[in-house]
Amino acid sequence: MSVSRYVAGPGGSLAGEITVPGDKSVSHRALMLGGIAEGVTEISGFLEGEDCLATLRALQALGVRIERPAEQRVIVHGVGRNGLREAAQPLDMGNAGTAMRLSMGLLATRPITSTLVGDESLMRRPMERVAGPLRLMGADISTREGRPPVVIRGSTAMHGIDYVLPMASAQVKSAVLLAGLGAAGTTRVTEPAPTRDHTERMLRAFGVDVAQRGASVTLEGGQTLRGTQIRVPADFSSAAFFLVAGCLAAERGLLLRGVGVNPTRTGLLQILLKMGADLRIHSSGYAGEGEPLADIEVRRSRLRGIEVPRDLVPLAIDEFPVLFIAAACAEGETIVHGAEELRVKESDRLAVMGAGLAALGVDHELYPDGLRIRGGQGFRGGTIDSRGDHRIAMAFAVASLRSAGPIEILDVANVATSFPDFVGLASKAGLHIQTL
Ligand code: S3P
Repeated sequence: MSVSRYVAGPGGSLAGEITVPGDKSVSHRALMLGGIAEGVTEISGFLEGEDCLATLRALQALGVRIERPAEQRVIVHGVGRNGLREAAQPLDMGNAGTAMRLSMGLLATRPITSTLVGDESLMRRPMERVAGPLRLMGADISTREGRPPVVIRGSTAMHGIDYVLPMASAQVKSAVLLAGLGAAGTTRVTEPAPTRDHTERMLRAFGVDVAQRGASVTLEGGQTLRGTQIRVPADFSSAAFFLVAGCLAAERGLLLRGVGVNPTRTGLLQILLKMGADLRIHSSGYAGEGEPLADIEVRRSRLRGIEVPRDLVPLAIDEFPVLFIAAACAEGETIVHGAEELRVKESDRLAVMGAGLAALGVDHELYPDGLRIRGGQGFRGGTIDSRGDHRIAMAFAVASLRSAGPIEILDVANVATSFPDFVGLASKAGLHIQTL
């Protein structure tokens, strides 16, 4: 039976060493690039979360043979850039925005028709941000009022574009680059602010020539990807829950091992350091495909509220739910602006976090593009509706370390999309979470 709610805390103390599961963004990309490569790709440290399994099943439905010889190991028998075949059924991307948006880029340049659908949350999320630039490249794509289902009638006659992204989105950037691989000529994408660059790094690992100049990434169409070995780092976004939990309750220190610390992902480290967090970062080399790794040590810290610099927002975009919990425990006010993208994640993360903070007695103000939180009052116990958003469910579990009473968290099944066995690992580290 799947878990539907948590009862967390109150209290708890963190200690010891943990390794969080593999990176979701890197796992999706390893499957997709492996699928369109020539030859075999071996992935280790693969995240066996529902989101990445949706990508895996979609690739199988498109004719890619995939083996799973052991836990967290996947072998992808690439079919080459022109090898994906039409799926018999609509491709169900579940809760996974990355699976849907990157697949749009992948499928647009194949002469097949694909229909992409997802769960209730994904069916509400904006897809024109990807369909628009792909149409400029010559694709035939339709959405239902901007949302899924997405129907792609692929074409082999697409051409490269010079596209300036209207928003900071690695998914849109990646979709355009993946389409660019199958298009004629040059594709260039320019970002308004740096976003995660896993696609660029991994394309290079597959032998593709990708040039980065300032805010622009350029590649030539028609390049061949060669199968390779990918070691997936531990997911920084999953480590984030323990970084904040450690700041709240690791008197003797907590060590997180082998965390991916690609600088386009680690805005939360910079934000927590500005808030006064006791964090020590020990570099530990690179995973095979050029992703930097570190062991991170965190101790209970006296956090101070800050105004979060806008340039750090895209670099911490998935970490705001748990950052708001840190802010509620900090002395003084924390102010976030420039984070309107949070409204179109797995839930409207500003509204849902605001409602949850209100339920626990935290003084805050919602802005169209952010939140102001008055910290230092602690949380009272209460009931939170996570609205099926994995990161919100986990964030409020962390809040229970500093709550006066238990926090009941509803609709938590989707934690399995990004962090299978969150409760097991969190309990090992010292959180008190009951599943019901
Ligand atoms: C992701 C990009 C981000 C992030 C998401 C994963 C990716 O989304 O929020 O969880 O793997 O490219 P946007 O591109 O919408 O910012």
